[in-house]
Amino acid sequence: MKIIMLGAPGAGKGTQAKQIADKYGIPHISTGDIFRANLKQGTELGKKAKEYMDQGLLVPDELTCDLVMDRISQEDCKNGFVLDGFPRTIPQAEALDTALAKIGQKMDYAIDVDVPDENIINRMSGRRACLNCGATYHIVSIPTKVEGVCDRCGNAVVLRDDDQPETVKKRLEVYHAQTQPLIDYYKKQDILKTVDGTQPMEKVFDAIVEILGA
Ligand code: AP5
Repeated sequence: MKIIMLGAPGAGKGTQAKQIADKYGIPHISTGDIFRANLKQGTELGKKAKEYMDQGLLVPDELTCDLVMDRISQEDCKNGFVLDGFPRTIPQAEALDTALAKIGQKMDYAIDVDVPDENIINRMSGRRACLNCGATYHIVSIPTKVEGVCDRCGNAVVLRDDDQPETVKKRLEVYHAQTQPLIDYYKKQDILKTVDGTQPMEKVFDAIVEILGA
């Protein structure tokens, strides 16, 4: 099963993608997490990506596409994968389709987690992320057991640099200009499914399982 998670920054793509990966036994591939891991390791890719991420801009397609194509060609992706944060532009979507077509495959579902902009800013200011293991929390809806400490790995959880309100506004603008057109792109391919992302997380996941099958 090959799945794309679509949705605005903070819509809950990562939260749902992790659960999909667990339930269906497929890898969760988040381009944001890959860039943050590179940044933590001090790689050239991480340093370049940070310049764009901190401004709320997209990392250029040429830095993004190859790393995803390389990741999905790995052995653990042979039964499928869930992409979180990729594709984010029409050229990225086309590159993905072309790479899959070469091996006689195509994406099965593009799930749009629909949340209006008004809800996003609040969610992002309450999000806390572990930059070590990628776990995410929310100070109200999913607090850590010990304040400021990741339940999973014990490292600090922080407000991401790009979750500052001004940067979130920019990310939303970029989302509407560059990523939202993918909704029509996948509608035309007849694989678009929309779920109401304003519901509680468990209800959003139930709606996704209804689409994918139990
Ligand atoms: P990335 O890390 O992908 O960020 P994003 O898409 O902006 O998405 P987020 O991780 O911010 O949010 P999410 O939708 O996963 O929400 P979450 O589940 O955490 O990318 C970061 C940057 O990297 C980009 O800005 C760009 O610069 C670069 N980048 C990445 N991919 C790229 C690409 N393909 N091309 C170019 N550049 C790229 O949930 C958010 C919060 O809400 C959490 O606190 C959560 O607990 C809470 N929450 C979730 N669901 C619910 C719910 N139903 N009700 C209440 N609260 C909820």
